[in-house]
Amino acid sequence: MRAVRLHEIGGPQNLRIDEVPVPQPAAGEVLVRVRAAAFNHRDVFITQGKYPGIALPRILGSDGAGDITALGDSVTSVALGDDVVIDPMLDWGDDPHVWDAKNSSLLGMPRDGTFAQYVAVPAKNVYPKPKALSWEEAAAIPLAGLTAYRATFTRGALKAGETVLITGVGGGVQTFVLLFAKHAGARAIVTSGSDEKLARARELGADAAYNYKTTPDWHKQVRSEGPVDLVIDSTGGDTLVKAIGAVRPGGRVAIYGATTGDATIRPFDVFWKHLTIVGTSMGSPQDFEAMLALFDDGKLRPAIDKVFPLSDAVAAATRMDEAAQFGKIVLKID
Ligand SMILES: NC(=O)c1ccc[n+]([C@@H]2O[C@H](COP(=O)([O-])OP(=O)(O)OC[C@H]3O[C@@H](n4cnc5c(N)ncnc54)[C@H](OP(=O)(O)O)[C@@H]3O)[C@@H](O)[C@H]2O)c1
Repeated sequence: MRAVRLHEIGGPQNLRIDEVPVPQPAAGEVLVRVRAAAFNHRDVFITQGKYPGIALPRILGSDGAGDITALGDSVTSVALGDDVVIDPMLDWGDDPHVWDAKNSSLLGMPRDGTFAQYVAVPAKNVYPKPKALSWEEAAAIPLAGLTAYRATFTRGALKAGETVLITGVGGGVQTFVLLFAKHAGARAIVTSGSDEKLARARELGADAAYNYKTTPDWHKQVRSEGPVDLVIDSTGGDTLVKAIGAVRPGGRVAIYGATTGDATIRPFDVFWKHLTIVGTSMGSPQDFEAMLALFDDGKLRPAIDKVFPLSDAVAAATRMDEAAQFGKIVLKID
């Protein structure tokens, strides 16, 4: 089969299309013929060596959707030919409140991932594909949708009528946060470094939008829009500090990343405002099931930036590295 493998650290240009054997599903696993896969920033970070535990060569990719073509021993929960979406969170553990940090991992490193014609995964990690969605749409959902769902609802506790501030809305996860927030009846204020992305966010329902490059005091202007109940951030650095300044007294901040690095937070800003700051990463199997159910009726659809053929994986990864995308970058696999 054809697969996108990383042989050497050094950036997206080091991804290669290789001919490799089709994997065999072990007991309890299924073989999925991947119809579409999608990029996450994690894949780019891995090519740059910015990820723990990298073992090469490896097939990258956490997101994928396809049909089941082989069953390992003792698999009864799914059948040959089932159309499925893959939950990339492997071995979350038994506690829905927090993952098993020692034993859990993500598909696509250290285990071979979805940027290939076939991938073997545990049967418990496949869920029926929402029928209303295309392969490309279904493949765009898993990692980003799961992270966004847990950050927004399970950890962020967003409710109808509340206001959420979404920093850097152009990102894969943040576009899902926007979709979920509007679906839940919340108000959404977004920031981005690009006016074009802000316009796209408005089309998806954003109620107010600020360019953090041209409006450096966006956090002060956000405060004039009314109280912000919840901030969801993966940028870190100065953005997180400003976002903490924008949230209302008694508000919440959910953090799942640090794209621009560490932040120096003033304890005063946290205790004086009685803030609740929560960390969140990926999501439990319960989160995944609840998140996927939101797409069942076809009214909610992921924001797709661009679809590339598998052979153009380097161009796709470069687009993400350059932050040119709004929403998910997808690989179509024939
Ligand atoms: N903990 C977890 O489970 C988990 C899961 C998924 C992702 N993450 C992390 O979350 C981050 C985003 O991942 P992704 O896959 O969604 O990446 P992505 O699609 O490449 O998005 C990158 C994001 O960074 C934003 N950004 C960059 N510089 C910024 C700045 N100065 N101020 C505000 N926003 C800025 C971009 O906003 P604009 O383009 O709109 O300006 C965009 O939202 C990464 O750090 C990733 O590792 C963590």
